[in-house]
Amino acid sequence: MEVVVSGIRPTGSLHLGNYFGAMRNFVKMQHQDNCYFFIADYHSLTTHPTPGDLHGNVKRVLVDYLAAGLDPEKVTLYLQSDLPETAELYLFLNMNAYLGELERCTSFKDKARTQPENVNAGLLTYPTLMAADIILHRANKVPVGKDQEQHLEMTRTFANRFNRMYKVDYFPEPVAYNFGEELVKIPGLDGSMKMGKSEGEGNAIFLSDTPEAIKKKVMKAVTDSGPTEPNSTKPQAIENLFTLMKVVSATETVAHFEELYNTCQIRYGDLKKQLTQDMIAFTEPFREKIADLSANEEYLRKVVNMGAEKAHESAAKTIRDVRDIIGFRKF
Ligand code: TRP
Repeated sequence: MEVVVSGIRPTGSLHLGNYFGAMRNFVKMQHQDNCYFFIADYHSLTTHPTPGDLHGNVKRVLVDYLAAGLDPEKVTLYLQSDLPETAELYLFLNMNAYLGELERCTSFKDKARTQPENVNAGLLTYPTLMAADIILHRANKVPVGKDQEQHLEMTRTFANRFNRMYKVDYFPEPVAYNFGEELVKIPGLDGSMKMGKSEGEGNAIFLSDTPEAIKKKVMKAVTDSGPTEPNSTKPQAIENLFTLMKVVSATETVAHFEELYNTCQIRYGDLKKQLTQDMIAFTEPFREKIADLSANEEYLRKVVNMGAEKAHESAAKTIRDVRDIIGFRKF
């Protein structure tokens, strides 16, 4: 069985892009791998959230992931800050992480450029904290996208460096894991290629959106004046609407609108109405679960406590071994 670790940053709610991307793979993985999924709340301190915001963000992400189908009986779902072993391993790894390699990291350079007023040591050592998250459970698989490849490469460097330094073969080399499936790319409603919360208001549909919010966003989606030639290639914004329709609507519905498009009879108002209706129906079960879970503090407490306990079992063993390898021995 593979040991899988992934961290979820507590920023914003899950949107359809997240759902059809990483999320559905997480849900499948939980049935066959030993999965550790955690909410990266230590990491989020690099941006200095207020205590209230921090807690609210963590809760939102926890609720969304449970609603999307993560089963806390199957995966180890925990908060990073409930596992102080993470901080200890982070400290050890930092002793062998070099300023040069940390400064060369693309995500650090980007942050240093975009927020020059807050270039803190947490940002610089973001990759060592991420490495600690992963190797704490001696994971060999990490389900992350391309944007995290460099961080994963650094994780391998730190793990190998530890092994070499202490002449052990303790940490495995973790690699990216996509579950052998093509990730479905969900486009935005603003005509852009990618649904994302940073792309601006109205671009993303969140699992927690109200029917009114969905209607407003879909009705505002970018279109054009329609095709003038039969069977013409669809402009990006129109293609996007069809892609969205393919994931939430019935096959016959998509075929019906394809036909109307190809014969130049399409009315985008009708397509949007249908898409709105199907989006609302698709997100309905999530919306209900999100509402129920949000109101059930006791259940959430049970989930995170159980996660912390399971995660601690694996982490405590690693820390015991690592302390011994380093030479912190009991008198
Ligand atoms: N850096 C990841 C992101 O930005 C989040 C993360 C933190 C993570 N620690 C991790 C992902 C460990 C995988 C494994 O999305």
